[in-house]
Amino acid sequence: MHIDILTLFPEMFGGPFNASILKRAVDQKRISISLHNIRDYTHDRHHTVDDYAYGGGAGMVLKPEPIFEAVEKLKAESGNKESRPLPVILLTPQGRLFCQRIARELSQHSHLILICGHYEGVDERIRQYLVTDEVSIGDYVLSGGELAAMVVVDAVVRLLPGVLGSEASPVDDSHASGLLEYPQYTRPEVYREWSVPEVLLSGNHARIARWRRQQAIQRTLQRRPELLDKANLSLKEAGSIDKLKESGANRGDVVNGYGITSRSQNKP
Ligand code: ADE
Repeated sequence: MHIDILTLFPEMFGGPFNASILKRAVDQKRISISLHNIRDYTHDRHHTVDDYAYGGGAGMVLKPEPIFEAVEKLKAESGNKESRPLPVILLTPQGRLFCQRIARELSQHSHLILICGHYEGVDERIRQYLVTDEVSIGDYVLSGGELAAMVVVDAVVRLLPGVLGSEASPVDDSHASGLLEYPQYTRPEVYREWSVPEVLLSGNHARIARWRRQQAIQRTLQRRPELLDKANLSLKEAGSIDKLKESGANRGDVVNGYGITSRSQNKP
């Protein structure tokens, strides 16, 4: 996969792209990432990338010309062989909310172009006539699309074949099955009198798989019950959720040992 990123701040990407999984994916040539400074596509002496908003109001708006020019050049160089149009994605709080399903969808393409918005916004014609998609990473406003682009790249790249050590690794991730991940333990078996659940030491793989599935469902019910509506559950599992709800196991919502609850955390 090749990813082009248009930004006013290419230097922001150095840290995240030069460490861990992303760096390894680049080193192993499973992906390539090119950062393009939008300023390089201006033609005036001052390299102007933004201007006042027509109609007035505070804040500057990113001009259309450099962004159109940059994307058109990249598209021409791409020689897109896919039957689908090349995704040109604007990172913006107005976009569709990013999630694991969208990460999977984007991971099916061989080339992505990401545009990081900035300032008060971008000229509307970029939305109307250039981009194929708009993505938001959450209902909050960042200073620009750069951090959002890094989040999208990370979530997409780790899904590509061979990027994670073992092919199976992303399968159990939280959200991969529509459920949160089950609890994980490693050595020591007893730490400060807190023991690893006995079932995990049993060596009985079927029992362990059942326990993990049940824990994933229970955890999802406690922390993110709305996810269960879309999760792939068997009839038996759906029935067991009703029982858990009746027994009150979904209440309390304790996320850590300090009584911080998912409900109170999510309050605006
Ligand atoms: N740019 C500013 N805020 C953003 C957000 N929440 N998601 C994506 N891009 C953004």
